[in-house]
Amino acid sequence: GKVAVLMGGLSAEREVSLMSGQGVLDALLRQGVDAYAFDPAQRPMSALRGEGFARCFIALHGRYGEDGAVQGALELMGIPYTGSGVMASAICMDKVMTKRLWRADGLPTPDWRLVASAQEAAAAFAALGAPMIVKPAREGSTIGLTKVERADQVAQAYALAATYDPEVLCETFIQGVELTCPVLGEGATAHALPVIRIEAPQGNYDYNNKYFTNDTQYHCPSGLSTDVERHIQALCVAAFQSLGCRGWARVDVLLRARDGAPQLLEINTSPGMTSHSLVPMSARVHGLSYEALCVQLLQATAL
Ligand code: DAL
Ligand code: MG
Repeated sequence: GKVAVLMGGLSAEREVSLMSGQGVLDALLRQGVDAYAFDPAQRPMSALRGEGFARCFIALHGRYGEDGAVQGALELMGIPYTGSGVMASAICMDKVMTKRLWRADGLPTPDWRLVASAQEAAAAFAALGAPMIVKPAREGSTIGLTKVERADQVAQAYALAATYDPEVLCETFIQGVELTCPVLGEGATAHALPVIRIEAPQGNYDYNNKYFTNDTQYHCPSGLSTDVERHIQALCVAAFQSLGCRGWARVDVLLRARDGAPQLLEINTSPGMTSHSLVPMSARVHGLSYEALCVQLLQATAL
């Protein structure tokens, strides 16, 4: 039947989603799938039913697309969709909820404070120490994120993050190797793809370096020892299972320089599928082409 590729949407990551969605749409069309772009920011979701769409590939990022809202609407309409369900999507969109559950399950994640004012952010800086990351609890692609080195930078960092989300997360900065690892499957069948090691210019893996420059180097295979790679993969599978994810996700990890301990940062339940994105890169190393990955995710759609 007809497949809608949901792309665009209303979040700060709209621009990224349009790139992801176009990539997915083109790949599905190349595979002979009867696929169409559908932007929920421009059309009511109810049109999906009216126009007889049988399934949706969710290529939306951020709020209203990756956070359970669209997933809930599709549940109500009875249209199967790719990726995690309502609850896991909602939890994973919120970095604070994510970290609480990981910690409850004994999984490693950097110390943090959830703050609601510049004063609380200053108190968090006093408690956590420098450097500290300040970011909106529910955004992606490093939008609204600041690395704070000095107390006099905290207020501005808080104000920036708060323009995206009233919930602001202050987190201990982890000096180390930046890694990311896709996980596919569900529950007991969840499995990790190869780990990617990210080397950004001056360690600055920001929005621009994520999508628009070619200055960031990605290493896949990661160059880590087999033991460390396996350890990271097992941790990412546990992180995925801990939150009840389904279909696919990408887990962001830092390998702490001081002691080599991996620290979980966040999990993206609707990972980027742009030409610069990392899930397709890892899948390719695993022997899964971009097209095959899209078709496989589509076949695993659920309600
Ligand atoms: N939030 C972006 C799209 C990603 O994680 O790939
Ligand atoms: Mg993210």
